Amino acid sequence: MNLPADNPLDRILVLEMVRVTEAAAVAASKLVGRGDEKAADAAAVEAMRKAFDELYMDGTVVIGEGERDEAPMLYIGEKVGGAPGKGPKIDIALDPLEGTTITAKAGANALAVLAAAKEGDLLNAPDTYMDKLAVGPGYPEGIIDLAKSPSDNVRAVAKAKGVEPSEIIVCVLDRPRHTDLIAELRALGCGVVLIDDGDVAAVIAVTDEDTTIDMYMGQGGAPEGVLAAAALRCVGGQFNGRLVFRNEEEKGRARKLGIPDEEFDRIYKLEELARGDCIFAATGVTDGSLLAGVKRRRGGLMTTESVVMRASSGTVRWIKGEHKVR
Ligand code: FBP
Repeated sequence: MNLPADNPLDRILVLEMVRVTEAAAVAASKLVGRGDEKAADAAAVEAMRKAFDELYMDGTVVIGEGERDEAPMLYIGEKVGGAPGKGPKIDIALDPLEGTTITAKAGANALAVLAAAKEGDLLNAPDTYMDKLAVGPGYPEGIIDLAKSPSDNVRAVAKAKGVEPSEIIVCVLDRPRHTDLIAELRALGCGVVLIDDGDVAAVIAVTDEDTTIDMYMGQGGAPEGVLAAAALRCVGGQFNGRLVFRNEEEKGRARKLGIPDEEFDRIYKLEELARGDCIFAATGVTDGSLLAGVKRRRGGLMTTESVVMRASSGTVRWIKGEHKVR
């Protein structure tokens, strides 16, 4: 398969991205269950930053650890990669440790995760909340619509699946802001899977029938929304996302990233969050629905489980790593 000349996502680079998420996951794994969210995040950030230097690319962080003045490394706009000015120009959305609290408490579904695309192809989402609605593959295009009520969306999916609304399972972050949403879903008789954290894995869970989760609903981080959207672009499924602003300061963050006021209410679909060809890579930090976590084995071995997927080919690679502990 030949790639179009203007596609900078070189095939080798796609696989190399796993090295980056592996490095972050291994570093964070040493702090699983240690009760220190900040230390776990810092370890993942540092390892990911270093691993990027090994890649032949001219990368720019478009979604990262925050703005330059609030994050020492992997901040928005930071250049990463070992070939600045020479290598392919790639935009990167990353979360070296998605699930800092999960990691501190040794819970499920912490991931090291990133998405990469041609310069300009990822929505530069501000660090605000995003209202999210997702469904797995196999449904007619447009089956979900954030402009409609949760009940209407559940009814539409149930009808297309050929089941009663009460048979639909919806995953929601367990937060006070979702009290009404949860009550509405329970009034329909839906199964509501409440998670404490980690909505990247939870959105992706709708694509895997084994999780039994049909839909994802509710507000989580906007950066995490773009990361999940990149994954759904590769494996199928539908996603709607709308930015949620709690105050003027958050609106300011969006304006700074080039989102005009008239688009504040916009409902973004998958292709508007992650356009063109894109890659999604993740390594499990703790065991979860998507990936097994990092494990320290006997005999000086550490094992990792990762996935890397690509939108243009739809190829999904599951990679088990065995690493010698040094
Ligand atoms: P962190 O890794 O930054 O702790 O994020 C975890 C997470 O649960 C995300 O998966 C989710 O999008 C977001 O936090 C929800 O935010 P909040 O905890 O403020 O409800």
